Amino acid sequence: MTTIDIELLSVSKQFGSSHIVDDISLAIPKGKFVSILGPSGCGKTTTLNMIAGFEAPSSGLIRIRGRDQTGVPPEARKIGLVFQNYALFPHMTVAQNVGFGLRMQGRRREDIAEGVSRALKSVHLEGFEDRYPKALSGGQQQRVAVARAIAPSPSVLLLDEPLSNLDLKLRETMRVELKEIQEDLGMTFVYVTHDQEEAMAMSDRIIVMQGGVVAQEGSPADIYGRPRTSFVADFIGKSNILPISAVAEPDRSLRVYVGAAKVAMKAVAVNNLAPENARFCCIRPEAVRLADAAGALDEPVNRMTGTVQKVVNLGAYLEAWMLIDGDIILKSMIRSTRIDKLTAGCRVELAVAHSAVQLLEQ
Ligand SMILES: Nc1ncnc2c1ncn2[C@@H]1O[C@H](COP(=O)(O)OP(=O)(O)O)[C@@H](O)[C@H]1O
Ligand SMILES: [Mg+2]
Repeated sequence: MTTIDIELLSVSKQFGSSHIVDDISLAIPKGKFVSILGPSGCGKTTTLNMIAGFEAPSSGLIRIRGRDQTGVPPEARKIGLVFQNYALFPHMTVAQNVGFGLRMQGRRREDIAEGVSRALKSVHLEGFEDRYPKALSGGQQQRVAVARAIAPSPSVLLLDEPLSNLDLKLRETMRVELKEIQEDLGMTFVYVTHDQEEAMAMSDRIIVMQGGVVAQEGSPADIYGRPRTSFVADFIGKSNILPISAVAEPDRSLRVYVGAAKVAMKAVAVNNLAPENARFCCIRPEAVRLADAAGALDEPVNRMTGTVQKVVNLGAYLEAWMLIDGDIILKSMIRSTRIDKLTAGCRVELAVAHSAVQLLEQ
């Protein structure tokens, strides 16, 4: 049975008359890497601040390890924090920085030394004890910040956009490292980010937030493969989102009519969505198949003819925008090696598997 480490029960937060977090309920399993993902301003930091105890909910309940946290101050919650604005102390060495929490707990000298060395080992920074923060790279500084947060052995680590000040290459390396650190420690990580790739790469579960509410929650594969709304489909990865009307066929398959009803496609319902409630469909660009140079197309259903409008070469693949029936535009992602002669104005045969045409409720 999964143990739940952190629970939010109908938690809301208002600042004045603004509802910043609106009736959120969450259960964060122990030992998992859970991301709270959403655009800037959607209430991610506020949610984390309530879990940490820096803000009190306006209503609702937060439980940590089964205990109601109402009135429990941050230092009594056994939580580690790596916040974007939680810089290292510049006048302290790495060892002094990492030992800070242990000193605050009044631990013995030997315990502190042992805790510091264990934490530095976890983040692969043994031998850096006597350096000062300014003599470290940005990535190393963030690893020290993680070591400082885990040294007092919290049961949960809260991280608020910890990689956002690093350049792209380093962010990509650190993603992998953070996930490895989390797995090695077996600690619950709650990771706030607006970067969908980051969340996809690291998380066991993703909670997508939009305007103070949870838009969808699930595994990265769920969220990517079965988005429920056009907001989620659009925010996670690339997608074609088309306005549709959907009807169930006598053989229980679904048919969607796109745009001015000239384009009909077979589709699937996801998340038990009834066809009459579907307003849009989502087609991932990688699911739009194009015929090869010889005209062969491996997808038997949902065949269409399109005119290439624009092609962008992104190195490993091409992005092509196709106009279908003068009405709808489908973006396609094609591996560069497969197609040599795809230019604006070309007529192409294309197809989309019916399982790749997914209904969305809004
Ligand atoms: N202490 C506060 N007082 C008033 N408004 C706040 C306060 N903290 C956050 N907000 C507002 O709440 C909204 C969500 O903020 P935040 O939780 O920081 O979003 P995110 O972390 O998702 O970018 C923002 O519009 C912000 O201005
Ligand atoms: Mg924030």
